Amino acid sequence: MAQHISPYHAPNFYADSLAKGRHRDIVGGRWDETGRAQMALLLDEGLLPDHHLLDIGAGSLRLGCKAVPYLDPGHYWATDLSGALMRQGHAVELADPTRLPADHLIEDASFDFPRIPDTITHAIAFAVFTHLPANHLRRALLQIRTRFPALQKLLFTVFLAPDAASSLHPVKQPDGVVTHDTRAPYHMLAADVLHLTTASGFSADLRPNRLPRGQILLVATPN
Ligand SMILES: C[S@@+](CC[C@H](N)C(=O)[O-])C[C@H]1O[C@@H](n2cnc3c(N)ncnc32)[C@H](O)[C@@H]1O
Repeated sequence: MAQHISPYHAPNFYADSLAKGRHRDIVGGRWDETGRAQMALLLDEGLLPDHHLLDIGAGSLRLGCKAVPYLDPGHYWATDLSGALMRQGHAVELADPTRLPADHLIEDASFDFPRIPDTITHAIAFAVFTHLPANHLRRALLQIRTRFPALQKLLFTVFLAPDAASSLHPVKQPDGVVTHDTRAPYHMLAADVLHLTTASGFSADLRPNRLPRGQILLVATPN
């Protein structure tokens, strides 16, 4: 079987999963808990209703169904590799879909952020770079830094390996997920994450506490 950079990149992955009604499962399940955890992280970083939030790799709007009612109407934007996945979330997971214009859901596989306004103040990529090789993170960081001059905070998650030698082998994360260096889910070294972030024009704060599935949060602030 061909090796894809992530399960999301396998042919027909989204069409098959959505046809089976699995839009929650394919972003990792634990729907309410993980949506609440993301919302709490953003509130801790000062997100207010009049801010403008970009949810990068938003999936089926596990965060969106909580952020949209909190934010002023029209202040939530989402991107994802799959437009169909976001549209399914919009159709079935939002309490009031009229608070989120359909053209705020942008299919974007390469972190170019087409049609996203430069008013974005906060961005989050939760459990996205855990599924992508490290140069995707580099590209995203560089693009975010130049595209969004009003950005105050970027939050993203990674899996870490404890040191270089152990990064060559599968790593069992605290709640049991097994991560790898060259296939998904990916782990990285803390030093590499910090370097990619600071080299892209941010100051980087790698938080010690573990999030769902053993992920680590990085809070990046533009310099
Ligand atoms: C584990 S899910 C997390 C979804 C969402 N952030 C959440 O927490 O509910 C990973 C998401 O990354 C998206 N994704 C994978 N590769 C991507 C890429 N190159 N660009 C944008 N999104 C991508 C997938 O479609 C999927 O929705």
